[in-house]
Amino acid sequence: MNEAKKIDQRADRCPGMTYTEMLEGDTRSPPDYLFEESNIDMPNDPLPIEPYVSAEFAALERERMWPNVWLFAAREDELPETGDTVLFEINDKSFLLVRQGDGRVKAFYNSCLHRGRKLRTKSGNSTQLRCPFHGFAWKNDGSLKEIPCAWDFKHLEGKDLSLPEARVELWQGFVMITENHELPDFKTWLGPAASHYDNYDMENRYTGMWVAKKIPANWKATAEAFMEAWHSITTHPQLLPFLADANSRYDLIGHHFNRAITPSGVLSPHLKGKDQQYILDKMNEFSGGSDADTNRRYAASEDEVTVDNDDELSARKILAEASRAGFTEAYGYDYSDKSDSEILDNFTYNIFPNFAPWIGYLPTLCYRWLPGDTPDWCIMEIRLLFPTPKGEKRPRAVERLYIPDDEPFAWAKDTMGEALAGVFDQDMSNLPHVQTGMKASGNNLMELGAYQDSRVRHFQTTLRKYVNGELPA
Ligand code: FES
Ligand SMILES: [Fe+2]
Repeated sequence: MNEAKKIDQRADRCPGMTYTEMLEGDTRSPPDYLFEESNIDMPNDPLPIEPYVSAEFAALERERMWPNVWLFAAREDELPETGDTVLFEINDKSFLLVRQGDGRVKAFYNSCLHRGRKLRTKSGNSTQLRCPFHGFAWKNDGSLKEIPCAWDFKHLEGKDLSLPEARVELWQGFVMITENHELPDFKTWLGPAASHYDNYDMENRYTGMWVAKKIPANWKATAEAFMEAWHSITTHPQLLPFLADANSRYDLIGHHFNRAITPSGVLSPHLKGKDQQYILDKMNEFSGGSDADTNRRYAASEDEVTVDNDDELSARKILAEASRAGFTEAYGYDYSDKSDSEILDNFTYNIFPNFAPWIGYLPTLCYRWLPGDTPDWCIMEIRLLFPTPKGEKRPRAVERLYIPDDEPFAWAKDTMGEALAGVFDQDMSNLPHVQTGMKASGNNLMELGAYQDSRVRHFQTTLRKYVNGELPA
């Protein structure tokens, strides 16, 4: 093992194989950034429930945090053509992202400079931005085009009436914006994890699945339900035969990034006495439920495969090999030198505050959480970003499918895949009761696991820094 791959093993981990040992047993060489463990010393004291339930805290988030961070506003595949315009709304802010003729994207505050009407209330192509109220019009580059009844606005002659803009950066096909013009560039702000995306041609991916649903829980409680894997034992028991939930790796890097890596194709340490064939069978059963499911995961070959029950990674190796072939067939690229890990595993990467774009060669999941107008609800969006098949033009993003408030994720099972929708519905079986349960707390505190809940503590620590005015630095 080379120096870069030497890691500081913690003693207080779940028994069984560590993720690093799985990487060491990979049939190919995984990249160094998967080996690197990064923990931050934090106290283990209880955390307050107030941030999840308090309107005053939400107001402080709106004042001090949201305008001062980089936000995922759109995928570039939502606005591929000149004039394509995406409406991005968060809290009471509204932005119009407009693709410029030179390929750049501008983000205008969606508010007329006359008497404030929103210039647009939906996405679509624009040849100009004309206010529907009295007809003030701007060109797509934000410069003023026309004032009706100009004789009444002689006092504005010579004044710059261009639309105010937020800052925009294009990164890996994501349109990132911030209202804070003093922040470092996005990659510096994010830190070393920005380079973890370089291998997966993210820029050339497209939004092939996109659903949204109102969740009756605070945006942070909802996001945090996806920051650890160890709730699988009670919430997602069907995943345990092929998901090493409690062997997940948790890493914290800087203020704005943390990750969980949950290995696939290995038995949960909670299950005993099962062989490698059991893992293969269960994973195939889960993956093969519908066309939408098999878009994401490939069952092992139907040909006879030889499992080695003395090798804890045997099923994983077989599944990875089958997936390499499946991906090549679907997308046309050569995956023969790609590691088992990057082919199979679940890379739950979170970028503060509300953005979770996974990495890896699978069609990658990408979550976004948008706060509600009270602390008690949010919108959760789930996308799958698919590789553009080799030689083809990147497809335009699909439209967002909004799941009716009283319907489960299973309502969208034809879009999401039955197995994936089922997993999210299991998460939803907790979240409304997390919100109401927090309000019913007798001591208004949460006691967290030192390791498996470390991302929750890290996220809350960064948020506190914004709310207290310690960030942005
Ligand atoms: S408010 Fe926009 S033209 Fe009057
Ligand atoms: Fe879950």
